[in-house]
Amino acid sequence: MSDSVVLYEVRGRVAVVTVNRPDKRNALSQAVRSGIVAAFERARDDANVRAIVMTGAGDKAFIAGADIGEFEGRSPVDQWRSMAAAPVFDAAERLPKPIIAAVNGFCLGGGMEMALSCDIRIASSTAKFGQPEVNLGIIPGGGGTQRLPRVAGVGAALRLILTGDMIDAVEALRLGIVSEVTEPAELMTRAMAIAETIASKSPVAVAAAKEATRAALSLPLEDGLRAERALFAICFSSEDKIEGVRAFLEKRPADFKGR
Ligand code: COA
Repeated sequence: MSDSVVLYEVRGRVAVVTVNRPDKRNALSQAVRSGIVAAFERARDDANVRAIVMTGAGDKAFIAGADIGEFEGRSPVDQWRSMAAAPVFDAAERLPKPIIAAVNGFCLGGGMEMALSCDIRIASSTAKFGQPEVNLGIIPGGGGTQRLPRVAGVGAALRLILTGDMIDAVEALRLGIVSEVTEPAELMTRAMAIAETIASKSPVAVAAAKEATRAALSLPLEDGLRAERALFAICFSSEDKIEGVRAFLEKRPADFKGR
């Protein structure tokens, strides 16, 4: 296996991004953050890639949070700069292709924030989730206080953020943090199946659907509906829409080109 801290591999029309520091529980070092941003850009710029699966190397961790070793001795300004230099969470949300987080173990702190920034989350039955920042005298800094309440509700978010407690995959499923739980050996197969289903759809429609749905979290209803109508109109004028409608009427699978 490569010694790169972030692996990038294209399988068919799906890019697999793997954080590769299993000995450090895939902690988000500066190099990992830069590697993830670079991998997302690669996936964005490859027209062949239509969906991304993100996971962690080994069987212990998805991402066990920010690299705590890098915190020591770092000035607040340096920390601010380092977070701004590789905005992994925003990059995931803004990517015009969907990202499926295949959570294969510890998903803590910045790892939880990474998963929350992905579009779909599934977990192995061995996964553990938490926002343990309070144990270190800090709070989530990668969107945890904002994205977790939106996904799981304020009550569940506060319970995790204030206690630092870890929850298992079944509890994460109950709270809506993940949409399904698999046996560990089935996790990647299932994540790839979801990604391949999405990859078979119109890339124009998928990008528009991601943008419109994400707008629901930041826009008032009226503005969100306006954004949805504008994105619908873009889809309606695409070659993919002509192909999709024609394929339906001709009773054959559509062959979308992303135009
Ligand atoms: N940053 C840096 N290194 C980390 C890390 C992190 N977030 N999480 C784990 N590691 C390192 C450990 O220091 C250890 O390194 P070493 O072998 O050089 O001593 C190695 O990964 C294995 O960790 P260990 O604690 O021995 O594994 P474990 O399986 O018993 O426990 C965790 C795993 C994830 C529960 C535990 O490592 C942990 O609590 N990590 C910190 C999680 C956290 O607070 N994240 C939020 C940061 S803001």
